[in-house]
Amino acid sequence: MAIHVDEANQTFHLQTDHTSYIFQVLAHGILGQVYYGKKIHVKPQYNELLKRELKTATPAYSLDDPDFQLGAIKQEYSDFGTGDFRRPAYQLTQPNGSRITDFKYDHYEVVQGKQRLTGLPSTFDDTEDDAETLIVHLTDKLIQLDLDLSYTVFPHQDVIVRSANFKNHGVEAVTLNAAESAQLDLPDSQYDLIQFSGTWARERHLIRTPLRSGIQAIDSVRTTSSHQQNPFMMLARPNTTDDNGEAIGFNLVYSGNFLDQIEVDQWDVSRVLVGINPAEFGWKLEPGKEFQTPEAILSYTADGMNQLSQQLASFYSEHLVNAKYRRMERPILVNNWEATYFDFNDEKLLNIAKQAKRLGIEMFVLDDGWFGHRNDDHTSLGDWFVDPKKLPNGIGAFAGEVHDLGLKFGLWFEPEMISIDSELYKKHPEWLIHVPKRRETPGRNQYVLDFSRPEVVDYIYQMMAKVIQDTKLDYIKWDMNRYITEMYSVALPADRQLEMPHRYILGVYDLYARLTKAFPDVLFESCASGGGRFDLGMMYYAPQAWASDDTDAVERMKVQFGTSYGYPQSMMGAHVSAVPNEQNGRITPLETRANVAFYGAFGYELDISKMSEEEANTVKKQVVFYKQHRALYQFGKLYRLDSPFEGDGNVMSWVVVDDQQDHAIATRYQILNHPNAPYSRLYLKGLDPDKQYRVNDSEEAYYGDELMNAGIHIGSAFDDTAEVKQSADFSSRRFMIDVVK
Ligand code: GLA
Repeated sequence: MAIHVDEANQTFHLQTDHTSYIFQVLAHGILGQVYYGKKIHVKPQYNELLKRELKTATPAYSLDDPDFQLGAIKQEYSDFGTGDFRRPAYQLTQPNGSRITDFKYDHYEVVQGKQRLTGLPSTFDDTEDDAETLIVHLTDKLIQLDLDLSYTVFPHQDVIVRSANFKNHGVEAVTLNAAESAQLDLPDSQYDLIQFSGTWARERHLIRTPLRSGIQAIDSVRTTSSHQQNPFMMLARPNTTDDNGEAIGFNLVYSGNFLDQIEVDQWDVSRVLVGINPAEFGWKLEPGKEFQTPEAILSYTADGMNQLSQQLASFYSEHLVNAKYRRMERPILVNNWEATYFDFNDEKLLNIAKQAKRLGIEMFVLDDGWFGHRNDDHTSLGDWFVDPKKLPNGIGAFAGEVHDLGLKFGLWFEPEMISIDSELYKKHPEWLIHVPKRRETPGRNQYVLDFSRPEVVDYIYQMMAKVIQDTKLDYIKWDMNRYITEMYSVALPADRQLEMPHRYILGVYDLYARLTKAFPDVLFESCASGGGRFDLGMMYYAPQAWASDDTDAVERMKVQFGTSYGYPQSMMGAHVSAVPNEQNGRITPLETRANVAFYGAFGYELDISKMSEEEANTVKKQVVFYKQHRALYQFGKLYRLDSPFEGDGNVMSWVVVDDQQDHAIATRYQILNHPNAPYSRLYLKGLDPDKQYRVNDSEEAYYGDELMNAGIHIGSAFDDTAEVKQSADFSSRRFMIDVVK
C-alpha cells in the first residue's frame, strides 16, 4: 500500500520505496503541506511538523480564528488574496470580476493504478506496477466549482505525479487565469536551483545557483518548451553531488508555455510551482465543463543526482514512453540534411543509401526538401506531396528503392508550419496564425498553422497519412522550426483568445495521438530546430528527440551531459557529422565524435558517399561496435563521473552499466591536451564491488571496489594506441569493463 490515510486526523501519507509525501487537512478545510523527503514512519498525525508561530503583520483567517494565518503556513494548492501574498497555484475570475475563491476540503478517494489523461500526454501504469492514485476533492460552494487534486504514487521509482482538475458545476462561466499542476511548499530555503538553460545549438547547460529571497523562475512563453529553458529542474542541498545528498527533481509533461518557479518568502519557506505559464494563459470554464492541467513529476532522493536521474529514467521507461519503445534498440540512421541540404535528387540520395547499407547502417532518413518545390527555406511548408523534380518516380517509389536495399526509411515533416509560397496558403490563408490587420512576424521565413482548429489538424493528418501509407514509412522526424508570434485565432471569440497557446498544443497532441494510433510501427523523433522541444509531453508520443542542431563533439558533450540529468540516453538523438563542424567550425577526430554520439539514439549526418576509404572503414567498425553494445549505451544505467560544468571543464566522463553489473562502458573525453600533464585517474561507479572485471581485455583483473575507489590510471595502461590518442586535443578514451567469467 502506497497511500495511507488517517481518517480521524485527515492526514494523507504517500509512501514510495524511499520517500514520504505528507499533507493534512487543516482548519477551515485548507490543505497544509507537512513533509516531502526521505521515507518516515506512518503516524496518525505530525503535529511537530506543522508547528507555526503567530506572525506579526500577517493577516488572520478571521476574527474568530486569529491564530490561523494562511500566509504563514505551508499549503498544498494555495489561493491568492485572502491572506497569503505568495504567488498562488491558481487564480480564477468570476462574473462579478472578483478573483477571490474559497476551496475547502470535501472528500477523497483512492483508486488503484493510474489512468491516462484524455487529450494530454500523461503517465500511466499499464504494467500494474503498484501505482495508486489519491484524488482529493475540494469545493468552493459559493460558485459551485470543484477542484480535484490528483496524486499518483509510483512506489518503485520514488515518483509522485500530480495534477489538478477544475470543474464548473455552477450556472455561470468563470475564467481560469492560472492553474498550476503542482505546488510544493518546502520548510526552508537551503537549496541550490539547478536548471538547464541555453539557446539554439547549445541547449541544456547546467546552471547551479543558491536560492535567495524572492521569486526565481525558469519559463517559456514561446509556445514550445524552448531551447532557452527546459521544464526539468532540481532543488538540491548545497552539498549535494552526483553521488550524495538530497535532490528533488521536477518536470512537466507538457510542450508549451511552462513555469517552474520558486518563491522564497520572508521566513525562508520555499514555494515551488510547476505548470502552464500563467503569462499568456486564460481558460473560460463554462458550466458543466472541466479543465485538466498537465501532469507534474516530482521525485526525491537522498542519494545524489545520479540516483535521481536513474530513477527518473526508469520511471519514464515504465510509465511515460510508449511501451513498444521501452527497451527497443533504436535503428542506426543516416540523415541527409548536413550531407545535401536542399540540393539533392534521387541518384544522390540513393548513393548515400547504398553506402549506408555497405557500412551496416540500418535506416535512411530523408530530411527537409522532398516536397512541394522546396529548394530553400522560403517555400512549400504545408504541401506534403513530393517534388517531382527531385524524385520523379514519386516518394512511394523512392521509399521502395530504399526498402529494397534492406534499409528502413524515414522522412522529415514540419506538420505545424505553412509557407506563404505554398498551395496550402493559396487555399487557406486564414489558417495561418495571425491577428487581422497586424504585421505577421516570420520565423525562418515561415508561419504557423492554427492547430487550435480541428479542421487544420485533420487536413494535415490526411496529407501525412497518405505519405506514410505510400512509403510504408518506418520513422518520422517531426520538426518545429520557429516560436509562435501574434498568438491569436480568427476562429476563437475574444474572451477565449488567451486559450490559444494551450489549444494550439492540444492540437499538436491530437495530431500525434492520431498518427501514433493509426501507424503504431512508425518511430517518431521530435525536433524543434534541434533541442527546442525536448520535453516529456513530446516523449509520450515520440520516444526520442533530436538533442541539438549542434553536432560538434565538444559542444555535444555539454548538451548531452546536461540533458542526462533529466532524460535517459535513449531519448537523445545524437549523430556523427562532418568536420569542420557546420555550427562552430571545430575539427574533432571521428572517433571522438562517435564516442560522444554513442550515448544516445545514434546515427550519421554527413555525406558518407564521399568519405575516404579509411574513414568509411572506421565508420563500418563503429557501426559493428555500436550494434554490439547498443542496448547498454541506450538503456544502461548512466553514472556521471566528471562534469564539463565543473572546474575548467576540460574533462568529461561517464559510464553506462548493465542491470547485472557485468558490463560497463566508460568514456573519458579531454578537450585540450596539456603538456607534461599531471597524473589522472578515472573512478568508476555502479560496478559490483565484489565482482572481478577486465578493462579493455586487460591481463590483470580488478575488483569492482578497486575500480570504483582506486580508479583506473589514465595513460597507456589499457590501450596500446593510447599515447597517440592522449596527445591530441578533443580526444576520447573508451574503457570496456567486462566481468571475469
Ligand atoms: C531544423 C532541424 C535540422 C534540419 C532542418 C531542416 O533546423 O533541427 O535537423 O532538419 O531543420 O530544415
